[in-house]
Amino acid sequence: MRIAIDGPGGSGKSTISKILAKKLGLIYIDTGAMYRACAYISLKFHVHGDALEELVRNTEIDFLQNDDTQRVILLLKKSEYDVTEAVRTPEVSAKVSEVAADKKIREILTKKQKKLASRKNVIMDGRDIGTEVIPDAEVKIFLNASVDERSRRRYAELKEKYPEISFDEVKDDLVKRDETDTKRQTAPLLKAEDAVEVDTTGLTVDEVVQEIMKIVNKKREAGESIQ
Ligand code: CDP
Ligand code: CDP
Repeated sequence: MRIAIDGPGGSGKSTISKILAKKLGLIYIDTGAMYRACAYISLKFHVHGDALEELVRNTEIDFLQNDDTQRVILLLKKSEYDVTEAVRTPEVSAKVSEVAADKKIREILTKKQKKLASRKNVIMDGRDIGTEVIPDAEVKIFLNASVDERSRRRYAELKEKYPEISFDEVKDDLVKRDETDTKRQTAPLLKAEDAVEVDTTGLTVDEVVQEIMKIVNKKREAGESIQ
């Protein structure tokens, strides 16, 4: 079974995807981490445009399963970089949507993601999974929540690592990224026509998992997606 989870930042995509991956025996692929890795490369090596595209083309982005955590590893310029934490910094967050709007960068990553999805048995989250990466996914979910709720969730996570960060900065980053991601020309953040939208505002993680499990089970009963 292939499950596509899309939605804006802080809607719970990665939290829910990891739980569902365990429950259903699927491989979780965090496509946001791949775009974040490109933004990280741009910032670290001071490269943009064609030079960034060239570097990304020559970079291997791997996910390494390590007990409960998934490490993000880059192989570039003959070196290996574990960028798991580095791709989550506010600097990378502020840069990523601009990099993700680059058509050529999207082409390179979408190709890698399609290849990963062809293994079957995956749950992939991002912005364009149901529309571009796995348009024939057996289950498509569009997770959403109010911008205030999403900002509260993200602030709660970030303030432990970055005590100086303010709620307004976190909200501002999410609002700006939502806007860039929704308005870009190539593969914008969009609910696929056949995706089920789940508004997670006011719901607990368990409640969201239950809601999606109902959708998965319905599909299985309908015999459309037996593994
Ligand atoms: O979880 P959070 O919203 O912080 O971000 P993410 O899922 O790690 O994605 C970071 C950024 O990557 C998004 O804001 C998009 O600009 C981009 N992205 C994308 O364009 N397409 C995807 N399939 C996944 C992420
Ligand atoms: O991947 P995305 O940016 O959509 O969200 P995330 O990184 O999974 O972050 C969501 C945060 O909100 C996590 O700290 C979750 O514990 C929390 N949360 C949630 O995901 N879903 C709810 N229904 C309630 C809280």
